[in-house]
Amino acid sequence: MPALTTKVPHMLQKKPRLSVIPLFSMAMVMASAAYGSPLAQTVSAAPAAATASAVSATAATASVTASGIPTVVQSTCMACHGMQGIAADGGMFPNLAGQWKPYLLRQLDHFKTHVRADPQSPIMWGMAAPLTAAQMQQVADYFSSQKPASGHVYDPKLVAEGKKLYFGGLPDKHMPACMACHGATLAGLPPYFPRLAGQKRTYVINQLTYFKSGQRVATHKGIMQYVASRLNPKQITALAAYIRSR
Ligand code: HEC
Ligand code: HEC
Repeated sequence: MPALTTKVPHMLQKKPRLSVIPLFSMAMVMASAAYGSPLAQTVSAAPAAATASAVSATAATASVTASGIPTVVQSTCMACHGMQGIAADGGMFPNLAGQWKPYLLRQLDHFKTHVRADPQSPIMWGMAAPLTAAQMQQVADYFSSQKPASGHVYDPKLVAEGKKLYFGGLPDKHMPACMACHGATLAGLPPYFPRLAGQKRTYVINQLTYFKSGQRVATHKGIMQYVASRLNPKQITALAAYIRSR
């Protein structure tokens, strides 16, 4: 990604407030270019994991419970992501509450087609396999409209370190600030940039590590792999602490 390498640090040093605008539009162009490319359309007919057959029994229709919650959320997703899309602390499960709908749909599609193939993703291959298109819309609608998790500060020193990286990037390593794409409030921006605020620490550490190692790719794979390749494990931990605190 030569454009990032040559332009970003210069922009960050000279005009820290304005620098995000060209970077941001560049990111949008990059992202939309990548999205133009066709996704793998093949969806494995056979459930990818044993768990999937249990899911398919309840996942056949986009029905809702008496309280208006999608049936599949109550029967399946809830176990790991929580009924309102807030997962239990300390595990590898992400919060889904308040995440942008297009991002949720894209991830479900990437699990279904095995485009997302990082070490934890086979769990989700089995969950996504039996979902119909209508159910994917339904769960994405549901989780995106839930109240996002509130922040929690575990370690103020780490949070401060993470905050510096989030807003400043690493100019000497040509790493753009996270803020340029995920926003000053960490709310992200649909359709491409996911919300990060309040996300679980273990999950964020895992994902940044998978991007860094190249184990997680996306259709616009270059962006996060480039960013994460600049980070060391200590910086990843600090960023995860800051993200969780918001
Ligand atoms: C057995 C546990 C489990 C169940 C049940 C489960 N998930 Fe997941 N889910 C995970 C794990 C683990 C991850 C993180 C995968 C990774 O690290 O790549 C994940 C990730 C996701 C993501 C990606 C989030 C992001 O921020 O990128 C979405 C979307 C998702 N799950 C939706 C669902 C839906 C919808 C259901 C119900 C149909 C469901 N999950 C059921 C374990 C589960
Ligand atoms: C140039 C734009 C850009 C910059 C800068 C950027 N990101 Fe991202 N980030 C993205 C995009 C796009 C995705 C979605 C990737 C996908 O669809 O799989 C993403 C995804 C992520 C995810 C996964 C979210 C999830 O729910 O699984 C995390 C975590 C993340 N970014 C953290 C960061 C951090 C921390 C920084 C700064 C060190 C950063 N990003 C800088 C564009 C960016």
